[in-house]
Amino acid sequence: MSAEKNNSKITIYVFSCWILAAFGGLMFGYDIGISGGVSGMDDFLIKFFPNVHERKKHVKENNYCKYDDQYLQLFTSSLYLAALVASFFASKAATKLGRRVTMLMASIVFIAGAGLSAAANNKVMLIFGRILFGIGVGFGNETVPLFLTEVAPIQHRGAVNILFQLFVTIGIFIANLVNFATSKSHPNGWRLSLGFAAIPAAVLLIGCFVITDTPTSLVARGHEEKGKAALKKLRGVSEVEVEYQEIVMAVEQAKQVKNAYRNLAKPASIPPLVISIWLQIFQQFTGINAIMFYAPVLFQTMGFKTSSSLLSAVMTGLVNVASTFVAIFVVDKVGRKKLLLQACCQMLISQVAIGSILAKHLSATGSLEGTLAIIVVLLVCTFVMAFAWSWGPLGWLIPSETFPLETRTAGFAFAVSTNMLFTAAVAQAFLTILCTMQAYTFFFFSAWIVVMGIFAIFFLPETKGIPIDAMVERAWMQHPIWKKLF
Ligand code: BGC
Repeated sequence: MSAEKNNSKITIYVFSCWILAAFGGLMFGYDIGISGGVSGMDDFLIKFFPNVHERKKHVKENNYCKYDDQYLQLFTSSLYLAALVASFFASKAATKLGRRVTMLMASIVFIAGAGLSAAANNKVMLIFGRILFGIGVGFGNETVPLFLTEVAPIQHRGAVNILFQLFVTIGIFIANLVNFATSKSHPNGWRLSLGFAAIPAAVLLIGCFVITDTPTSLVARGHEEKGKAALKKLRGVSEVEVEYQEIVMAVEQAKQVKNAYRNLAKPASIPPLVISIWLQIFQQFTGINAIMFYAPVLFQTMGFKTSSSLLSAVMTGLVNVASTFVAIFVVDKVGRKKLLLQACCQMLISQVAIGSILAKHLSATGSLEGTLAIIVVLLVCTFVMAFAWSWGPLGWLIPSETFPLETRTAGFAFAVSTNMLFTAAVAQAFLTILCTMQAYTFFFFSAWIVVMGIFAIFFLPETKGIPIDAMVERAWMQHPIWKKLF
């Protein structure tokens, strides 16, 4: 019998472990959602970026270029650059100290970042705050998806891992609401926005004292008995011998490997490495963060008033959360690949339609007329919906479940850092792209969606239902292209 047939019960403890760890996703999501709003607040701009504030007042003649400013974009993107570097240190920590301790470190640094940012009186404090936030996100994003994948019973692995993404979307949504409320509180509303980031991190911190480390990490660090006990608690049953032996075997195999990074160039790790990196690049080139960071700005570009822009942004946020549940319920039934391909079609149609409407009806100075404006908002929602049940969650799930144990944390660090690099790139470049390419920006993203669909068809194996320690034999060695490596 193999571990895929093991019984497991979802006890309160098991469920608490999943949810508490998922708060790491809320930290990330809160960051994504809070930055755009804060950098648009006048009090914040006057204090730290007075020149930007001056420009914002005067340069309003072109719809597509209202907010194009490198400094402002740097405020948003700097965090992701810090996270990029941090994820490699986090991978070492996750291997040597365990997943749980690394999540604990993430929460502490993140709380320090929230404190420093909320108290910032000059640019140096603000930048250090961003760096601490970034380190927290790097450590959290490296460990939380891996933790969830390793503690999940195989038949629910996709759903449990997607709790991370669900909490990302909840974080983005809460952050938007917080910004909406604090933007009315002068002159220190922005301090509240940044300071509240400490709340999800505090839950994760407390949670780390409740949850157990993953059985795999415990066994790999020589704590066999604790590993077995943890497995029993996480499965809610006492009969776990078969699965335990599979973990022991995976650990034995992983021990032969001295340098994980060098081993990433070996056949068993090349396919997951290539796929993890590209999934993350593609995830960002769907254009999702153009919407997450800049939804209110985008809607203002289309000629909406500030309040209806914020309202539309709240709507897309809600659609994002709700559609993630779809992924949770179907990912272990229909599989990963079908979701990705279905979403490519839906995202492509939405982007092309948005681009065409804007190209035809939105000049540099006018605004969209009523019905068209509503259609565009609905199209943005259709796009977000498709992303939320596919490339969003699966960009994290697939890299966390496809590496063999010996290169799992190192390989996943590449996925995290690629995500951070391209998130920063989109954050940095989007407003400039919008200003130069105008409505054609949406065709630029559409072209990427075609490429990623083709990639998924030819290079991605279906990983649903395959135990994580059997990926090499059952996914890569069976795949028409990747099997040539072996
Ligand atoms: C992505 C983020 C994105 C979020 C939107 C995540 O999977 O990594 O960049 O903002 O989904 O929900």
